Amino acid sequence: MALRIVTVFGGSGFIGRHLIRRLAKTGATIRVPVRNAEKAKFLKPMGDVGQVVPIAVDIRDPAAVAAQVAHADAVVSLVGILAPTQGRSFQAIQAEAPGVIARAAAAAGATRMVHVSAIGADLDSAAEYARTKAEGENAVRAGFPDATILRPSIVFGPEDGFFNLFAGMARLAPVLPAFGGGATRMQPVYVGDVADAIMASLTTPHHLRQTYELGGPDVHTFRELVQMALDYSGRGGKPIIGIPFSIAMLQGWVLEKLPFKLLTQDQVTMLKSDNVCTGALPGLDAFGIAPTALATILPTYLDRFRTGGRFAPKSA
Ligand SMILES: NC(=O)c1ccc[n+]([C@@H]2O[C@H](COP(=O)([O-])OP(=O)(O)OC[C@H]3O[C@@H](n4cnc5c(N)ncnc54)[C@H](OP(=O)(O)O)[C@@H]3O)[C@@H](O)[C@H]2O)c1
Repeated sequence: MALRIVTVFGGSGFIGRHLIRRLAKTGATIRVPVRNAEKAKFLKPMGDVGQVVPIAVDIRDPAAVAAQVAHADAVVSLVGILAPTQGRSFQAIQAEAPGVIARAAAAAGATRMVHVSAIGADLDSAAEYARTKAEGENAVRAGFPDATILRPSIVFGPEDGFFNLFAGMARLAPVLPAFGGGATRMQPVYVGDVADAIMASLTTPHHLRQTYELGGPDVHTFRELVQMALDYSGRGGKPIIGIPFSIAMLQGWVLEKLPFKLLTQDQVTMLKSDNVCTGALPGLDAFGIAPTALATILPTYLDRFRTGGRFAPKSA
């Protein structure tokens, strides 16, 4: 399908920027509703002059959302949060806003909608993140039945929040934490593969009404992933210590009171469950995408954390 106007809610985020680089190549006009349009201006050079248009929008406001999807052929919803902040609850952003977007997209006559949810989305989950992700999926299905829903495992790539966090922590911290002993299993998926799956969902009819789980080629434990962050940032010998979930909960209780929310109790609750593809839903292979391995990508961005920087001799 030829794309003329595409609206990408949350397009300034980690996944969004990789998607917008791809969308810009189609020649489509790309509207990017975010809270802070100034911060999203870095997206503009990805397209021709005037092709990528960041706009400040309150996604909880149905009229404002409707204005952003008017005349759009396709709508992507990427808005999500890892922790609530003042004025941004899980309920508003993850459970309700996707429904607002889906209903507006249907009313505007869009023919494609892609909604990015997460592995573990479950109405019965003990974690509010996962419960509201499931509510958001249901709201999208009700509002735009043809929507494609993608559930990634943790996503890795140059701007990710996992490997960069642990490689950055390792520069200062004498030891790194493995919550719950680090046994939780995860299946990290490359951001470029997620963006390619979104593009395929937007441009071909094969993925209408489907829900996919997107995982990488390998399953690793949390501890193994932290070890990789250390290895690829040149600090492989740094100790990783297991922290029982009960202690991690206490840490979350304290840290979630800080403005930057380094760790929350809800995140600790999420870590009690594996974050891997269940096999019950199709995955990247349904898009003809061969998942990219961590070992191919991590060295390209974690080397900046090495002592002396990325150009320092390897032994440093
Ligand atoms: N990254 C992962 O590992 C991962 C894994 C599984 C699922 N997911 C899901 O994939 C989606 C995209 O993830 P991401 O990593 O790209 O997220 P991200 O980097 O945090 O980006 C989130 C985007 O949403 C926008 N946003 C946040 N709150 C908003 C609000 N109230 N109104 C309007 N825009 C708002 C942000 O822009 P402003 O701040 O300017 O508003 C930003 O553009 C999310 O739904 C996330 O839950 C991500």
